[in-house]
Amino acid sequence: MSKLTKTSAKAGAQNPAAPGSSEKPAGKTPAGAPPEFLAVRDLRVHFPTDDGIVKSVDGLSFTLEKGKTLGIVGESGSGKSVTSLSIMGLHKVSGNKSHNARISGEIWLDGEELIGADPDRVRQLRGQKLAMIFQDPLTAMHPYYSVGAQIIEGYRVHHPGVSKKNARKHVIDMLDRVGIPQPDKRVDDYPHQFSGGMRQRAMIAMALVNDPSLLIADEPTTALDVTVQAQILDLIRDLQSEFGSAVIIITHDLGVVAELADDILVMYAGKCVERGPAVDVFEHPEHPYTWGLLGSMPRLDRELQDRLIPVKGSPPSLINVPSGCAFHPRCPYAERTEGRSFTEVPVLTPVDENGHHVAACHMSKELRHRIFAEEIAPRL
Ligand SMILES: Nc1ncnc2c1ncn2[C@@H]1O[C@H](COP(=O)(O)OP(=O)(O)O)[C@@H](O)[C@H]1O
Ligand code: SF4
Ligand SMILES: [Mg+2]
Repeated sequence: MSKLTKTSAKAGAQNPAAPGSSEKPAGKTPAGAPPEFLAVRDLRVHFPTDDGIVKSVDGLSFTLEKGKTLGIVGESGSGKSVTSLSIMGLHKVSGNKSHNARISGEIWLDGEELIGADPDRVRQLRGQKLAMIFQDPLTAMHPYYSVGAQIIEGYRVHHPGVSKKNARKHVIDMLDRVGIPQPDKRVDDYPHQFSGGMRQRAMIAMALVNDPSLLIADEPTTALDVTVQAQILDLIRDLQSEFGSAVIIITHDLGVVAELADDILVMYAGKCVERGPAVDVFEHPEHPYTWGLLGSMPRLDRELQDRLIPVKGSPPSLINVPSGCAFHPRCPYAERTEGRSFTEVPVLTPVDENGHHVAACHMSKELRHRIFAEEIAPRL
């Protein structure tokens, strides 16, 4: 279990100025900077390849406030990891296979635009204001250095004035907080000496050692068994309420974000097809793809044979994206839009009064609500 002290901070609480956190250079906030802590606007990430251009992310926009959690959900290959790597600025790192990415749009973090920023500035922000938990901890950790040495290094890069001894103390404390037993001894272990769950915890410690104000967790639980999964999610939640960070949780499994996320963004073929407050998306999902994802969620209270209503077919190629609505080859309702599903790309349209819940589907709201009430809700 996590050793964190639970605080009474509410989900929307602001992070008290964390020691060691870097503020943006004074007076450099450009006019037109959005008020939100994180604002992604019309993000496009395309990869030229021998077979054609892979449109991994194609016009994605969302915002996120501090202290809030956004769940990005979609099947494998929908562009979730490419989105997170772009926010981290990792598409520009030479030697990374993504460095040839063509990227456009805007990523604003706390008044600073990152796509056009100096790579040195983005590197400085990474590990300090921005941190990421990767799907596979072994890719984030070097096998030849002890777990502790790597986290200490990550801490000292951003705190050059701190002595080795104090940095080690801080890291042992961090390992303790993420639930590593005997952290003063295990700090000197190598990654392969840790179990999968412990490596994931160590990576979380590495991500959090500098109190990042934005934490991106990309499928943080996929490789773990159910009990450890629940512990890791509890841990992320506790850390968030303590530090007030903004969190993006990326997953192919809506169940993972059901309790954790304030907002949900459903991605399909590099685009957002539905976005809104988590309660609305779970209670009144508007997009046929979201219905499919919800139907695929295992539930304890369902009979085994009724449990899964998978989305038929598989995700499309992002080189030859289907015309019109990219979901049309798999959508049972594509014929009910007078042909528009096949020719016209649907745009995100508000479905509630305040415009917080949006969906991109050519069916009228009335028709969607009728289908949901009659065909979908009884099976969920
Ligand atoms: N460096 C790259 N070059 C070409 N295609 C890429 C590259 N990185 C990712 N892709 C493609 O972009 C798509 C989205 O990938 P990704 O974001 O990893 O999906 P997800 O995380 O949702 O499973 C996939 O089709 C993937 O093959
Ligand atoms: S636009 Fe058409 S194909 Fe796309 S989700 Fe709506 S009904 Fe289905
Ligand atoms: Mg991924």
